[in-house]
Amino acid sequence: MKSDISGFYKKPIEERIEILKNFASLTEEEIELLKKTGALDIETAERMIENVVSCFSLPLGIATNFLINGKDRLIPMVIEEPSVVAAASNAAKLCRDTGGFKTSSTEPIMIGQIQVSRLKDPELAKQKILEHKNELINLANSQDSVLISLGGGAKDIEARVIETKKGKMLIIHLLVNVLDAMGANVVNTMAESISPRIEELTGGKVLLRIISNLAVYRLAKAEAVWKKETLEKSLKGMEGEDIVERIIEAYVFADADPYRCATHNKGVMNGIDAVTIATGNDFRAIEAGAHSYASLKGYKPLTWYEKNENGDLVGRIEIPVAVGIVGGSTRTNPLAKLCIKILGVKTARELGEVLAAVGLAQNFAALRALATEGIQKGHMKLHAKNIAVTAGATGELIDKVAEQMVKEGNIRVNRAKEILEEIKKQN
Ligand code: MEV
Repeated sequence: MKSDISGFYKKPIEERIEILKNFASLTEEEIELLKKTGALDIETAERMIENVVSCFSLPLGIATNFLINGKDRLIPMVIEEPSVVAAASNAAKLCRDTGGFKTSSTEPIMIGQIQVSRLKDPELAKQKILEHKNELINLANSQDSVLISLGGGAKDIEARVIETKKGKMLIIHLLVNVLDAMGANVVNTMAESISPRIEELTGGKVLLRIISNLAVYRLAKAEAVWKKETLEKSLKGMEGEDIVERIIEAYVFADADPYRCATHNKGVMNGIDAVTIATGNDFRAIEAGAHSYASLKGYKPLTWYEKNENGDLVGRIEIPVAVGIVGGSTRTNPLAKLCIKILGVKTARELGEVLAAVGLAQNFAALRALATEGIQKGHMKLHAKNIAVTAGATGELIDKVAEQMVKEGNIRVNRAKEILEEIKKQN
């Protein structure tokens, strides 16, 4: 069968499933699985993307213990990876005695880029744009009266001439305060709306008009202190001072080496992406922003660590946070709306600050584990539980079978079945 199915998008879902059934020889059971959609109903899903056949579920967990600027928060996280939620919760627990996370953020300013090429004199064109800054800002602002009435809208214009493989180009940045939205729609609309005037002013050709995911003006910061005594209590048989030292050594490794830095930042993003997805936000935008921000001065960690005068560990993070609490699937996906309610954030800035705190927590937890006992111990416990369930264990037998397998260092379905039989016989 061919994949060039004409009008697939126009067909009712039943028909799309029928096509899939024939294409991939799906069984009736598999079709029933597609029809189970969970909290996001199929009609809503159809309004979100194209060619829908079902809804895909991922686990939604809640990270506990977070104290952010003196406020207790429960953090919804959507992620497929074991240990992430537990690690974030544990990191948050270990800094409660120093007041948890202190966060701050900038105004939610996003950048809309306008590319102008085929210019006779790019520097002169740049001058022209800067001379007409106010006119262009007003023109952009005539697009969205609601945003303006709430205090948002286009605020500034920057212009740069860049050297490309095809000669010099003028790149204009329209800076827009997007308030509580992620901002892509409003920024793209505004960038498109001022482009004809930009062509008139410069005599050049406007090509791309699109938001930049390198959201350098929309930053969130978080900071936390982990006491050496608390760290000592959390890990049997290790000195607090040594743990602090090891975590700092783990950090400087990432700072000096891009191979490690990629994984270091991946750990940061484990937490940030999970909250981004839970709140219905665009995690690709957040990923693109985070890694490009990390690369501005050579690829560097998104977090950094030092010792304070007491010898305790201070961790910091700074990241671009292009997330919203209005628009997109933050409102259409009922679970995203619910997660925003659980988080208790009232503005996009607050959500961005939560992301920063979670990213720092996640990274601290990974470094603490990696620099001391390693991460496999925790992973193995969860893995063993999964294997126990696969082998047929239920209820309290899951933990019993898993514990035995971890003790033996033999985590396999066959062994789980044997242990299960042994326990059942004993009973
Ligand atoms: C795994 O998803 C994330 C870690 O690799 C992060 C890190 O190495 O810092 C544990």
